[in-house]
Amino acid sequence: MDRIRIIGGHPLQGTIPISGAKNATLPLMIASLLTQDTLVLENVPRLADVRLLQHILGNHGVDIMIGGKRPGESTHDGQTLHLSAGRIVDTTAPYDLVSRMRASFWVIGPLLARMGEAKVSMPGGCAIGTRPVDLLLMVLERLGAEIATDSGYVLARAPKGLRGGSIVFPKVTVGGTHTALMAASLANGTTVIDNAAREPEIVDVADCLNKMGARISGAGTSRIVIDGVPRLSGARHRVLPDRIETGTYAMAVAMTGGNVLLENTRADLLQAALDVLTTAGAVVAETNTGVRISRNGHGIAPVTVTTAPFPGFPTDLQAQLMALTSRAQGTSRITETIFENRFMHVQELVRLGARIHLDGETATIEGVEKLKGAPVMATDLRASVSLVIAALAAEGETMVHRVYHLDRGFERLEDKLVACGAEIERISG
Ligand code: UD1
Repeated sequence: MDRIRIIGGHPLQGTIPISGAKNATLPLMIASLLTQDTLVLENVPRLADVRLLQHILGNHGVDIMIGGKRPGESTHDGQTLHLSAGRIVDTTAPYDLVSRMRASFWVIGPLLARMGEAKVSMPGGCAIGTRPVDLLLMVLERLGAEIATDSGYVLARAPKGLRGGSIVFPKVTVGGTHTALMAASLANGTTVIDNAAREPEIVDVADCLNKMGARISGAGTSRIVIDGVPRLSGARHRVLPDRIETGTYAMAVAMTGGNVLLENTRADLLQAALDVLTTAGAVVAETNTGVRISRNGHGIAPVTVTTAPFPGFPTDLQAQLMALTSRAQGTSRITETIFENRFMHVQELVRLGARIHLDGETATIEGVEKLKGAPVMATDLRASVSLVIAALAAEGETMVHRVYHLDRGFERLEDKLVACGAEIERISG
């Protein structure tokens, strides 16, 4: 298993190109199941999760071609995927694949909408609390599907096709909203979603579906209306920038000091996080090509933050913020409201010298003057990158074990950091 070795203490200077968003790419790839024509996705990040989903979609009969490089393009640019689901050959998504990535459960919506049936294993994914699928199944039922569960599988059937319905989410769910968008696009009649997720990735998927011929309005607000159409066609769509990757590097710069241009991204995708960073002492400037982050010359100021659905502070940046506040001049409080148990990074940060006290869903972080390198273990995707951020500012050497979690969601992390002066290397095997 690969490890990452980091020697801390180097301020980051330079430019970091931000990749396409993982959390938009996955549902966009899944949307290819909705049409027999070709869906072309540009700016797709090179990630383990994307490769795994290629495999899963291939099982259902999706032909995937990866576009060659165009003149002037480098390997740093995202890839272009051509996805063609001319014929769905299998409506079953097996355990051994779905258990490795939770979002692959989302194939259930398009398979059911197009084929009238789907059999999908209950998901796995990051070990961050119980992550049920009850609301996704509620969506399908509201659209007229019959749902049964058997031996760890969900069996969904709609032999006469799905029909429009009213969906009121009791809590905001990104996966539930994606499922509703995709399934309702091919349903007979109109669907209204209330308390929909407003994340930028939802808007990106809705934009792409509309290019494919769907009739979706209101994406980005809490009420989305979808007029179902009998069929969708192919389209070409560019994946939006990854706001979590943007926020992660912004925190790394705030942590180490320095001055970095985060390129090909937009501040409006993560305003709440940038506001917190400003309070913590970062200087955030929007440019034509991205967002520039530096430090205001003082130490890191403590912050009080509660995670919330978009436009609130994202849970996917909670661990990274905790790393940053571990060196603040004072006491910070971070409350996690989206996922229970999303605090596995705490014990590892403590190994680096952080002082963190957990009480239910709130972590109290007493800033320390310095962190000290140590061997640590990556536990989930975002937790592992918080250890990298801490290590970049820690004295001496940190070895991060089990970095396959990082590869699920961060493209060429070491390369991007090395280019800005960090001392970080991957050790294979
Ligand atoms: C997506 C993101 C993930 C992010 C999360 C919250 C992708 C691929 N993943 O995950 O990175 O951390 O949004 O922003 O886009 N819930 C239920 N029942 C359900 C579904 C969800 O109770 O059927 C609960 C969850 O346990 C959680 C909350 O709803 O407490 C929000 O989860 P949700 O927004 O659905 O997360 P994901 O879509 O899985």
